[in-house]
Parts: sequence; C-alpha cells; structure tokens
Amino acid sequence: MASLTLIKKIQKETVGQTVTLRGWAHNIRSSGSIIFIEIRDGSGFIQGIIEKKQLGKKGWAEAEKITRETSLEIEGLIQEHPRQKGVFEAQIKKISLKQVADEYPIGKKNHGPDFLLDHRHLWLRDQKQWAIQSIRQEIIKSTYQFLWQNDFTKIDSPILTPTACEGTTTLFELEYFNLGKAYLSQSGQLYLEAAIAAHNKVFDFGPTFRAEKSKTRKHLIEFWMMDAEMAFVEHQESMNIQEKLISFIVQRVLKNKGPELDLLARNKEKLEKTKPPFSRLTYQEAIQKLQKMGSKIKFGDDFGAEDETLITADSEIPVFIEKWPEKIKAFYMKSDPQNNKLVLGADLIAPEGYGEIIGGSQREDDYQILKKKMKAAKIPLQYFQWYLDLRKYGSAPHSGFGYGLERIVAWICGCQHIRETIPFPRLINRLTP
Ligand code: 4AD
Ligand code: MG
Repeated sequence: MASLTLIKKIQKETVGQTVTLRGWAHNIRSSGSIIFIEIRDGSGFIQGIIEKKQLGKKGWAEAEKITRETSLEIEGLIQEHPRQKGVFEAQIKKISLKQVADEYPIGKKNHGPDFLLDHRHLWLRDQKQWAIQSIRQEIIKSTYQFLWQNDFTKIDSPILTPTACEGTTTLFELEYFNLGKAYLSQSGQLYLEAAIAAHNKVFDFGPTFRAEKSKTRKHLIEFWMMDAEMAFVEHQESMNIQEKLISFIVQRVLKNKGPELDLLARNKEKLEKTKPPFSRLTYQEAIQKLQKMGSKIKFGDDFGAEDETLITADSEIPVFIEKWPEKIKAFYMKSDPQNNKLVLGADLIAPEGYGEIIGGSQREDDYQILKKKMKAAKIPLQYFQWYLDLRKYGSAPHSGFGYGLERIVAWICGCQHIRETIPFPRLINRLTP
C-alpha cells in the first residue's frame, strides 16, 4: 500500500509520489470518462482526478458509485496543478469505498440558517465551518501557549456552584440532593482568586452558562470562557497582559491559519494591526464621545450593542473602556482610589461591531470593604465566607479577566453571528443537535 498521509502534508516534495488518503468526497463533477472529486480528510482539501483508462473496468464501476460525502480510501499520484502553482492534485489509481453516502441533504443552493442549524451535525463539514473550527482551535492553542509561557497554572474551577457570581438573573438552576439548589457556573473567577495564593498566576478554560434571554448575534447560552487571575497585578498591568494575550492570539492565527482566513474572505490587513498598545478610554470619556457621535447613552448606563460598535468605529483594533460606575459592575471590583463611585474594571471591545471580548478588573482585597460591598449587593454571605476569608490570610492586590472564546472567534473569523463559532450552539430556542 502506498504510504498513508494527510492532505495538509502534501507539498512540492510529495509531487511524483503515490500516497494513500482517507476521507470523504466533498464534491464531485464528472464528464464522460473523467470524474473530479474534491477529497476532504479533516486536515484539508485536495482535488482527485479519476480517469476511466487509469482505473480499468472494475475500478471505474466503483468510481461511478461515489456520491457526495461517500467515505473512501484512495491511492493517488501527486502532481502540481498545471496552471495554479502550489496547488496539488491526486491522479487516482485505486479506490476503495467505505460507505456510499445517501443523498446529502445540504445542497449547493443557499439554505436558511434554521435549516443549517438543524443539520449542524452535517454542516460542520462545510468548508467555511471547517475553517472556523480550525481557527477556533488555533485560538485555544495560542491561549494556552501564551499563558504557559507566562507562568500561569491551569486550575479547573467547578461548574456546579451554590450561588451566582455575575448576578442572579442569569442562572441555570437544578436540584442538588439534600443541599437545595445548585447553579451552573457563569465564570470560574472566584475560585481562581482562591488559587492565586497557592500558584500566583492561574487560569481556567471551560464552558460557562448564562440563562439570559438575549437573542442577539453575540449571545450564547453555553459558551467557553478563559478566566485568568494574577496576584500582585494591579488594574493597568492587567490590561497590559490582556492586550499582549489578544495580540499574540491574532498574530498566531495570521501565521498559522492564513488559508482558513482566506476561505472566510477575512480582511487580514485589519487583523495585522492588532498589536499593543490598545487605546484606553475611561467610561466617562467614552460616554462623552458616544454622545458627540449621536448616541442617547447617559452617564450610568451600560453600553448597548450600538454603543459598542460606535465606540470602536475609528479603530481597527480592540479598545479598552475602564473605570466604570460601581452600580453597573459586579460586587468584587475594587473602587477607584480617585473616585469611589467608580471601579477599576475594564471591558475590552473588539472592532467592527464584534462587541465585548473581555471583562476584567482589579479585585477588592480588603476584608471590611468587600464585606460591605457584598452586603450592599445582597450577596448571601453564608455561601461566600470562604471568598471573604481569602482577604484574611495573606490578601494581596490582584486582578483578573475573563475572555469569551466565541466572541473572539467571531471577530477573528468575521462571522456575522456567534452561533457559527461553536460546534453545537445552545441558543434560547435551540438545544439540538
Ligand atoms: O464580562 P463577563 O460577564 O465577566 C465575567 O464573568 C468575569 N467573572 C470574568 C473574570 O473577570 N474572570 O464575561 C466575560 C466575557 C465577556 O467579555 C464576553 O466576551 C463573554 O465572556 N460573554 C459571552 N459570550 C457569549 N455569550 C454570552 N452570553 C456571553 N456573556 C459573556
Ligand atoms: Mg462583561
């Protein structure tokens, strides 16, 4: 048998070799005594050429059975495309069919989003969907690389929690044996704050849940968050780390996933500009700027989707909005020493309307102040004594942030809607497949 290889490994040096490929017939065209099949093996796509005269009668009879999505193994001689340099094709010598696929429900015509989402188990094979998931993988990989290179330890935070950390209105509730109610985690942040005293810099990366009834192109019910938490790091330095992380991710995707970005027709020049430093606007400055641009936003309001788009209209890279009014942010944020009505929190807003990709802050590290903030926010102290305790035994200034993986994927890939960025999206009206 010719040696088994992956499509992505086929290059100049492979020309003239006969290789074995295992995959699926992504597309087929035939004209008389020649069949063109586009083969997909998960690592890439390659054109295969089947000629009647090469295969003989029996082989040709098999070839004629190939339908879209038929699984197969082929042996083919690799050659360079006669007109396109750097594009390779396989002159097929042998085929073995694994399963001749039934008529494939996803056609070449345009399907609506509901149809495609109902067929998500198949739609994932689409070339653009493949490119999005490949880029998602690169984002995950580069996130780990960056964090490990910078001495972060991965701490897996729990998903079942006794109470909320980001506000009580968006929790998924379930019965937990004799202990009453439990909730699906909205963020692992509070648990990471415990781990910094053991490991200094830590992160988690896992699924998080928000029961908010938002039906927007930026909200998922289940999404993946990376939370990072850092001891002895204050607000401004935390933003330095965030912009380094995001720039690292974008540059890695550009370096390693160029063809995938091209498949998505993503403007790479815009992404290339993602390098530190990012602009930092205070909330106050942002409100004034938005008002000048025609927004109806008032001091004290949270940003709507339109405000997020507007505030980055003159920037091709993400922008930080920092020092938010205490009233619209979570209880754990540290007060701004210059104005105790504000907190040392920052949101990182992606350009081109992709919205908030990171939420973070310096944390309140004083026992009494935090206790007061928790009481004011009506946080049930019986569940949070452990969190307060952290401020009794070696409390230190510390900061952290959480990124929304799917928002980052949407921005980098240029996806219109966040539902395409996760393999199996969970939306208000969708739990299958
Ligand atoms: O801003 P959020 O709510 O922050 C936290 O949960 C903090 N505890 C994180 C921390 O400091 N460790 O969520 C963080 C990010 C947002 O900036 C956004 O990118 C994403 O998570 N996000 C969502 N992504 C998709 N669908 C949703 N419903 C999301 N809600 C938040
Ligand atoms: Mg937020």
